[in-house]
This record gives sequence, structure tokens and C-alpha cells, in this order.
Amino acid sequence: EEYQIKDILNQDTYLVNGELKKWEGQTTAVFSTISSTAEYSPTILGSIPFMGEKEALEAVEAASAAFDHGQGLWPTMKVVDRIKCMQKFVKQMKETRSEVVKFLMWEIGKSLGDSEKEFDRTVEYINDTIDSYKELNSRSAHFSKVQGVNAMVRRSPLGVVLCLGPYNYPLNETFSLLIPALIMGNPVIFKPAKHGVLLISPLLEAFRNSFPKGAINILYGRGREVAAPVMKSGKVDILALIGNSKSAIALQDQHPNKNRLRLVLGLEAKNPAIILPEADLDLAISECIAGTLSFNGQRCTALKVLYVHESIAEEFNKRFSEKVDNLLFGNPWEKGVSLTPLPEKDKPAYIQELIDDATSKGAQIINAKGGQHSDNYIFPAVLFPVNKEMRVYKEEQFGPVVPILSFKDIQEPLNDMAESNYGQQVSLFGKDAKTIAPLIDSLVNLVSRVNLNSSCQRGPDVFPFTGRKDSAVGTLSIHDALRSFSIRTFVASKDN
Ligand code: G3H
Repeated sequence: EEYQIKDILNQDTYLVNGELKKWEGQTTAVFSTISSTAEYSPTILGSIPFMGEKEALEAVEAASAAFDHGQGLWPTMKVVDRIKCMQKFVKQMKETRSEVVKFLMWEIGKSLGDSEKEFDRTVEYINDTIDSYKELNSRSAHFSKVQGVNAMVRRSPLGVVLCLGPYNYPLNETFSLLIPALIMGNPVIFKPAKHGVLLISPLLEAFRNSFPKGAINILYGRGREVAAPVMKSGKVDILALIGNSKSAIALQDQHPNKNRLRLVLGLEAKNPAIILPEADLDLAISECIAGTLSFNGQRCTALKVLYVHESIAEEFNKRFSEKVDNLLFGNPWEKGVSLTPLPEKDKPAYIQELIDDATSKGAQIINAKGGQHSDNYIFPAVLFPVNKEMRVYKEEQFGPVVPILSFKDIQEPLNDMAESNYGQQVSLFGKDAKTIAPLIDSLVNLVSRVNLNSSCQRGPDVFPFTGRKDSAVGTLSIHDALRSFSIRTFVASKDN
């Protein structure tokens, strides 16, 4: 009862240039991912403005005016005042917790526990960013003398940021771009994800109250109708996007002066787990369950392919599959549930295609429940033996299907990682220090994070979050993101 949606939320205002303007135009309905009936039937949760070029350009003008070639109120504001704005925002944001958590469950099907975690992690992220921003400024406020030159180094804003976040963390990941961009003095144009858009509504008033005119502008609508004109205007200085590389490339292509455009991108990954013969199997299995299937595998850091040494493959596969079959599917607020409906309506059919392709090329579904599906969910299929010709090996599934390969020689997964277009993280399960130590030296040159005896993940948020090759451009995290959204400038003098 507590988690039911009682009122439809029609978002009939939009935030541009410090004002919540009345929306008079067409709207788009927002449907739920889950339904309260046993048979899936989507519920209308509300609606959002269907915006176009006019509003996109309005946002561009507002953000550009707020920056005003670096002379505007926001980029020139004193550090202490900018901090006050952010503190005001986070204080008001905290009051929206129950509403935002409810939308996280209904819009994207995230479990209650994970939705609460997403909200709390975001609040903590903002507070930690404020602290890190204070520290960055206190450290840079000193003169240092080098070769007769006194220099005072500081971090200065870069300009207008277009910020687009993903549906799997519509609050937390989006804010891991938006908050550092904003606190560094850059005005932001933000387009919420398609799924996970109504959850921004409870925050609009807090945004409006906390930041000066034009510092934050929020657009609704389809990417090609609103993000494209923003890029085409040539007034975007940083494209900050977490999502897929296709959209990132399309948006970059629309910018008339790519040399001027900076990028902060979190893109696809295909993180492998390598399970060595001497690994603690209980630990490896439980970490791989969480790693592959938490939030139904819809995480960029999810383990998307498992390499198990051939000497333990039979036992690993049996015990892993049994554990998968014991996972509970249900509504996000139900106790013990870890598998939930999928927000993308074509995802079950896509996962089924991957399963069919793999089984037609020699893999088997090795868990009893694998592939069972209804309209908006598909039970995770564990596939073995997978080979490199299969789509499930090549594509980032971003959903509930687990490909397993066996290997004889450690060089096999290493070669595959070297050939891969991705390079975010890896999980390595083993015990023997003599085997592990040289492996780590190789792995850190293939990815940006090596997880020993644990699944892949982004947190703790103070650690740099990035990737090699097609997986990322720039680095996020509490400390690094502040650097990604600013330029190091300095005042030099030869006076004593
Ligand atoms: O979707 C990618 C996220 O950054 C994953 O974050 O490892 O905290 O789930 P997480």
C-alpha cells in the first residue's frame, strides 16, 4: 500500500532560466515498468512535456547567458557562495526521498533496497563533492614559487555542459555528472533519461530555489529533438554523457566545432570475471551472482562474461546455475526479490535473440528456469559453453543472460581482453599470490580497475571511475570529476 502510486504526476512546468515555466504544448505519457496486477499491464504514471527545438534553444541561451564568457554570476561566484547553493539544494532534496524512491521502483523496476541506496548514495555523493570542492580550493589558494615565478593555481569552469544520464541509475549516475559540473561553476543543460524521468519532478523546486538563473536548465523530450539542437548551436563546451557510444558519437557529430568540445563519457563495458582453479568457489559464485545479475544485469559494471578454468567448470556451472534458479522474481518492494521487470520493452525479445543465437551455435541453457519469460521480464539464462562467434559474447547484453566460457590457459582470457573494444574492469578470483601478482600487472594495462575476489563495481565513489578504449572518456568520482569539469588556470607574478 505504502508504495502504490496514488496520483498521476503530470509535469506541466519546465525549468529554464531560473523559472518554472508553464508547459502548454503536447505531452508524452510516462508508463510504469511494473504493474500491480499479476498479468503485466502498464500503468500510466504521468506525463512530461514533449519539447522541441524552440525550448532546446531557449535552454542554450539561458545557459550561455549564465556563463557569459566566464563573466556571469555563476562562474564568478565565490567558492563559499557556490557551496551554500549546493548545500541548500541537498537539504531540500533530502525531503523528496520517499517520492523519488517510489518513482525509482515504478519507472525502472529497481528493488526497494537498491532504490533507497541510490537515493542515499546520491545525497552522500553531493555532500562529499562539496567537501572535496572545499579541499580543492583550499589547496589551490597558495602561491608557490618556481624558477622565479610566483604562481597561484586554481580550477576554473569551462562553460556550458550538456548532461545526459542513463536509465539504470537515473538519479545517482546522472548526478555524478551534473553535480561536479555545476559546483565547478559551469551552467548545465540536463535531459533526464527516458525511463526515470518523473523522479526528477520532485527536485525541480529545489533546483529553482538553490541556483541562480540559467545555472541549471532541464529539457524533456527525445534526444534527437532536444539534444541535437543544443549540440548544433555550437554553444556546448562539454558533452557529459553516461549511456551508449552511438548516442555519444551522434551528438559529437552535431557540434559544428569539435575541437572546442570536451568529453566526459561513461560508455559500454563487457567486464569479465576470471575464475582460477584454486579460487574459493563459494565466494566466487556468490560474487558472480551479484556481479552478473544485480538489477537484472542492467549495470555498466556488471560482469558480462565469465571465464572459468576447465578443471572447475563443471562444479562452478552446477552450483552457479542452482543459485540463479533460486533468485526470486517479483515487484521491487517485495521481500527477498532480486529479479524485477525490465524497463525497456524490447529487452526480453533481445535477450531471447541472444539465447537463440548461442544455442544454435552449440551453447546450452544450463539452468532449469533460464529463458522463461512474460511480457516485461525474462528469467536469467546461464549459457555454456559460449564461444567467440556468439552474439552474447560480442554484444553488451545489459540484461539477464550469463555467458560462461571455460579456459585451459590464462592467456586465453587475457588475449580476449586485449582484443576487446572495451576496457572498464575485471574480477579475478584466486588465492595463490604467485599466480595473481604477475596477472595483476597485465590486467591493469587492459582495464582501469582490477577487483580481487570480488565483483566489479563503481564505488566507493572516491575511487576514480573510468575505462579504457571504447568504455570511457575522462574520469568520474568525487575527486576526479571536479577536475574533469574544470581547467587548471593560474596567476603568475615575478614580484617577491
Ligand atoms: O551502470 C553503471 C554504474 O556505474 C554501475 O554502478 O557498480 O555502483 O552498480 P555500480
